[in-house]
Amino acid sequence: MILKDKIALITGITNENSIAYHIAKGFSREGAKLILTYQGSRLKETLDKLSENLNAELTMECDATNDDHLHHLFTEIDKKFGGLDIFLHGIAFANKNELAGGITNSTSEGFKLAMDVSCFTLIKMSKYCIPLMEKRGGGSIMTLTYIGSVRALPAYNAMGCAKAALESSVRYLAYEVGEKNIRVNALSPAPMRTVAARSIPGFLDMYNNFVKNTFMKRHVDGEDIAGSAIYLGSDLSKMVTGMVIYIDGGFHCSALM
Ligand SMILES: NC(=O)c1ccc[n+]([C@@H]2O[C@H](COP(=O)([O-])OP(=O)(O)OC[C@H]3O[C@@H](n4cnc5c(N)ncnc54)[C@H](O)[C@@H]3O)[C@@H](O)[C@H]2O)c1
Repeated sequence: MILKDKIALITGITNENSIAYHIAKGFSREGAKLILTYQGSRLKETLDKLSENLNAELTMECDATNDDHLHHLFTEIDKKFGGLDIFLHGIAFANKNELAGGITNSTSEGFKLAMDVSCFTLIKMSKYCIPLMEKRGGGSIMTLTYIGSVRALPAYNAMGCAKAALESSVRYLAYEVGEKNIRVNALSPAPMRTVAARSIPGFLDMYNNFVKNTFMKRHVDGEDIAGSAIYLGSDLSKMVTGMVIYIDGGFHCSALM
């Protein structure tokens, strides 16, 4: 149980296919105390059920763009736990229009929304996490990114720009909080069949073509991602910060066609 008694805040669970849910399962198995958040009351019933399966200690609604929700969430965490060890940022959103066609289809409003939800919420939520992590002598912040940040992919467009900004934010956050013994990293998994992924036009082609371009010749599963997240959340990675860790069987450096 390498996360025994660590207090972990997990955002971005929609259902059992969510990457954040796989990570939450891994954290729970390793002994962490879980705090789960969900976006919007329509998810309450599902989250209550998943929360029970995971033995979570606190489950709250939190739209990461809503300042009142954030204030309420972090006040509750402070009251109930008196600190925080791990924060998983599993949040991303873009309107369909920002993904379809070419990047010139983007609108100013749609581009800003993708950037605000998919990137700035990491910075905003980390600001709340930092004092709580200081109370525990340090902590680990992690987010989820995708290779569309460094490569131009069909139909990723504004989200690719947001992921590039997200990865840059990871480095600047890591720079700012290193002396507080807080680490900040990003996990970059291969395509997974989730609700967010389904909104990317042509996602299934990308998913199906993935295996032949990897070294490991198989898809990534939830356990693969959870393993790397557990490592980042644990003291095994205590000098690892500012990194983007690919979990993709070698796809990121493959020239296979
Ligand atoms: N599925 C993939 O192929 C893949 C690959 C690499 C990275 N990722 C990244 O993993 C993360 C999780 O996505 P997923 O694929 O598990 O899909 P998902 O749909 O299960 O999760 C996305 C989550 O973002 C949440 N969210 C969106 N806007 C929010 C807001 N304003 N406040 C709070 N929460 C909000 C949604 O409620 C949802 O739970 C995303 O950052 C995604 O870009 C996904």
